Amino acid sequence: MSQSIETVLTEDRSFPPSDEFRGAARLADRSTYEQMWRRSIDDPEGFFGEVARELPWLEPFTSVLDWSGAPVARWFDGGKLNVSHVCLDQHVEAGRGDEVALIWEGEPGDERTFTYAELLAEVCRFANVLKARGVSKGDRVAIYMPMIPEAAMAMLACARIGAIHSVVFGGFSAQSLTDRIEDGGCTAVITADGGWRRGSILALKDAVDEAVQDQAQVHTVLCVRRTEQAVAWSEGRDVWLHEALDGVSDECAPEPMDAEDVLFLLYTSGSTGKPKGIVHTTGGYIVGAYLSTRYVFDLRPGDTYWCTADVGWITGHSYIVYGPLANGARMVMYEGAPNAPHEGRFWELCEKHRVSIFYTAPTAIRAFMKWGDAHVEKYDLSSLRLLGTVGEPINPAAWIWYREKVGGSRCPIVDTWWQTETGSIMLTPLPGMSATKPGSAMTPFFGVDAAILDEEGNEVGHGEGGLLAIRRPWPSMLRGIWGDEERYHDTYWSRWDGRYYMAGDGARRDADGNFWIMGRVDDVLNVSGHRLSTMEVESALVSHEGVVEAAVVARPDDLTGEAIVAFVIPTDEVADDGGLALGVLLKAHVAAEIGKLARPAEIRVSPRLPKTRSGKIMRRLLRAIAAGEEIRQDTTTLEDPTILDELRTGVKA
Ligand code: PRX
Repeated sequence: MSQSIETVLTEDRSFPPSDEFRGAARLADRSTYEQMWRRSIDDPEGFFGEVARELPWLEPFTSVLDWSGAPVARWFDGGKLNVSHVCLDQHVEAGRGDEVALIWEGEPGDERTFTYAELLAEVCRFANVLKARGVSKGDRVAIYMPMIPEAAMAMLACARIGAIHSVVFGGFSAQSLTDRIEDGGCTAVITADGGWRRGSILALKDAVDEAVQDQAQVHTVLCVRRTEQAVAWSEGRDVWLHEALDGVSDECAPEPMDAEDVLFLLYTSGSTGKPKGIVHTTGGYIVGAYLSTRYVFDLRPGDTYWCTADVGWITGHSYIVYGPLANGARMVMYEGAPNAPHEGRFWELCEKHRVSIFYTAPTAIRAFMKWGDAHVEKYDLSSLRLLGTVGEPINPAAWIWYREKVGGSRCPIVDTWWQTETGSIMLTPLPGMSATKPGSAMTPFFGVDAAILDEEGNEVGHGEGGLLAIRRPWPSMLRGIWGDEERYHDTYWSRWDGRYYMAGDGARRDADGNFWIMGRVDDVLNVSGHRLSTMEVESALVSHEGVVEAAVVARPDDLTGEAIVAFVIPTDEVADDGGLALGVLLKAHVAAEIGKLARPAEIRVSPRLPKTRSGKIMRRLLRAIAAGEEIRQDTTTLEDPTILDELRTGVKA
């Protein structure tokens, strides 16, 4: 943590928005922000009651917040609404049905555009297909899709009939998909034959076939035809979407949902145990996604908005599907990789569709920097007016590059801190108001009462590092972990006796009170903005017959933020190649067990691991070794100090 603290202390540049930006911004001055923020904290009922009433309710709510039994918050009790109705019908009913909702591009360059009226009709037809297959309110539906319009339609169709969706990132392995289907008790799966990724096909249907083999409760696999390669077919269970859609009505009344009915599950890694199915409910979630999209991205009529995330992550849920559509935005969605078929692909799309708001991840920005300025300079990016980042701390050099090369030194950057659990953006600049600082997430969003605490729960002074905590419930807060209320309480609320939500990140505030995130404080890795637990990767490694014991740590990486380094003890003696061949096997094994994103960058095979005399693996030592640092820490508790040289010189696979 000390390294981040130093970085924070040396970064004192700040960039106010231009007069032009400020002049047209939704929120342009600090005093308005302070007034609104203060009210959102002192009078959440008044503040969020008003915001919520901007959305179309099917039945009005009778109370705004019930926080009697922390950590169980209830928002907008008594109210009924349907998120797909909020995202689609309301705009059509207001006469905006002909406005473009979604401009989609496939990796091979194919293009499809949907107006709000068209998207509504597609979602209704999709919902009717689900109904015809017996999917109904409260059922869980897994969605394992490429980035095609049907991914968003599938989510909205579930929402329309009150089914709970559980989107699983298409890069996860069949095994990871099985775990999530099983944990959620999913009875249907929506997938595609495949998806395009860097010119090759992600064989999604094959992975689904493998994943549902022993999941007898799965009665339907609904498959979208995308890549048209041959796929295996299980008659009765498997259904082609295009065939099922034939002759289906494009009307489907939205199911009236209680505000606290579950909208979706989304799995994320914790420091221990299996991935957690984070539970989000209907009313509070959509209010949070709606309000944050509006203010953080300063959405205005005429904007074209593009968030490059995948729908498999929370960013894709809140800032591709629900937030932008609730606001009636016009947005771009792209199927493929940023460097397919060339490294300028994103900028080509920005130019072509006159994108004005662009939201991506630091790891992507670092890749763009590496590929070179020429790919950016080739395109006319004058339509851009606002940039955003999310997912991991952004280093000041990448921030400045993003500002200058992509934003032409004219676009504010919103560095947004939040989590799967928070549902929507929590700490962020407001682009018309903030003099942004490279690397700082700046200020709490409305309704967010953030604090930095020491272990005992005392607030630390400005300038001191501590644990990031949130003092009271906010509308889009998670409502639990699927099937494990105790873990919900233990993970997030037990640290300070239910008084604070614990985020699991370290942070500090500078002299002006702005927040700087310093990274995870637990055993969670952040690889390319994706959360993985060291435990999960370790379990995958020891599930291989060649491994007795494994310890996984992160080392800093210029491109991915953090890279995974695994230390393993082999079942047999270390081979003559120093474990090289085993390392290669293990990388592939982890990719197959969890997904490519979890594949260790480096594996060191050794007959022993550094342990204390009581047998605990000394991870901080492994971290130093993995980072190639000199070991200055106390090694006197180490059972056998000679092991360090062994590990330092070990062959890396
Ligand atoms: O460590 C923080 C980091 O990502 C974690 C949340 O990961 P996930 O639930 O996958 O959601 C990612 C997208 C919202 C956080 O605990 N993180 C997220 N945004 C930032 C960040 N770290 C620093 N700066 C950010 N802007």
